[in-house]
Amino acid sequence: MRSPLPNHLLTPPKRLNTPDLSLDPSTTSSENVSSSLSSESSLAPPSSSSSPPSPALAPPTPIHLLPYPSPVTPSILPPPTSRKTSFSGRVPAGIARRRLRIVVTGGAGFVGSHLVDKLISRGDEVIVIDNFFTGRKENLVHLFGNPGFELIRHDVVEPILLEVDQIYHLACPASPVHYKYNPTNVMGTLNMLGLAKRVGARFLLTSTSEVYGDPLEHPQKETYWGNVNPIGERSCYDEGKRTAETLAMDYHRGAGVEVRIARIFNTYGPRMCLDDGRVVGNFVAQAIRKQPLTVYGDGKQTRSFQYVSDLVDGLVALMEGEHVGPFNLGNPGEFTMLELAEVVKETIDSSATIEFRPNTADDPHKRKPDISKAKELLNWEPKISLRDGLPLMVNDFRNRILNEDEGKGLK
Ligand SMILES: NC(=O)c1ccc[n+]([C@@H]2O[C@H](COP(=O)([O-])OP(=O)(O)OC[C@H]3O[C@@H](n4cnc5c(N)ncnc54)[C@H](O)[C@@H]3O)[C@@H](O)[C@H]2O)c1
Repeated sequence: MRSPLPNHLLTPPKRLNTPDLSLDPSTTSSENVSSSLSSESSLAPPSSSSSPPSPALAPPTPIHLLPYPSPVTPSILPPPTSRKTSFSGRVPAGIARRRLRIVVTGGAGFVGSHLVDKLISRGDEVIVIDNFFTGRKENLVHLFGNPGFELIRHDVVEPILLEVDQIYHLACPASPVHYKYNPTNVMGTLNMLGLAKRVGARFLLTSTSEVYGDPLEHPQKETYWGNVNPIGERSCYDEGKRTAETLAMDYHRGAGVEVRIARIFNTYGPRMCLDDGRVVGNFVAQAIRKQPLTVYGDGKQTRSFQYVSDLVDGLVALMEGEHVGPFNLGNPGEFTMLELAEVVKETIDSSATIEFRPNTADDPHKRKPDISKAKELLNWEPKISLRDGLPLMVNDFRNRILNEDEGKGLK
């Protein structure tokens, strides 16, 4: 049967020549870096004949400027376990914060593009890696021409080599409509962990509340191990993220990589994909198009919805804090689908009708984060309620739907 997506959007199985997959910290870099490091010479330190600056005056060398260890010279980087980076942003008063070079995989997507905006606005250099499977250049077009910003079209199931301080790993189709056709989680995460290990970057994984499956514990704490169907239609996503968490922890324990794990609960806001099956976007788009709001099942299943700027604040707090996680990042306000439909009606069109459809397989009955751990250790909690946040995405959706209707939608 023909796939509903064009071939270039499907991810074929790839060969496993990924960078530095070994978990043995003693193998960091040296035996794996030689082949692809054509840029190594340009990263080499000044020759010994040039007199080095006085240590008292010399600024600390940023990690991304340090040379890679070559197969013939011993590493000048400390072993990964001792690479306690000082990225926390908590610098003593009066000392300027060092500009970081940061990779955001999936940075052309919904959450990623907002995160990139925040990192650029605080003065960091950001490199976005995205294959535009669900992301759009439009989400980043306002940054084109900014010298602190770079965009690389690349599929993270293939290795890539970049010298960076931090990696926010978001690349992954996040909606049921898309993830069935592009299971990116495992290989993409493995490649990015390999990169983090090699260059000593701190690595943040955007995991999901889906790791709790159809939860038997409510609300969900990070200590809950979940109730996930390993062979269902959603498993490539749920189990993929669970595996990604496992890989992150193995690289942390086995190779000393500084990892951070966020378990994200439903998030909404401007730049969400239109029509990708995620409920807030669906309802908002349907209300704007004057279509009935489709409710699957009886509409009594619950979800918790957080506004995207709250999530971005949480991700940055997690990356810069000292705790590995996992941390639930979500808004504990809990709504049934019918209640959400009512809020959408109040916000956009009070005359909108509701249409019931049979529920999808393995749809969780309830979902609500316990965020006490993030409150206590990250000093983070969401600030924007659903009633305040929903209106903030309506204009963006309206404009995009209008453009689509006029045949101007860009991909
Ligand atoms: N938005 C949410 O409610 C939510 C909830 C839980 C977890 N998350 C996680 O947050 C991350 C971002 O989600 P989002 O809502 O912004 O989704 P999104 O689909 O808008 O963004 C994902 C981005 O990753 C890119 N991408 C996908 N596969 C890729 C690949 N193989 N190589 C390179 N780029 C690739 C896409 O093109 C897109 O730009 C995802 O990892 C998702 O699992 C999101």
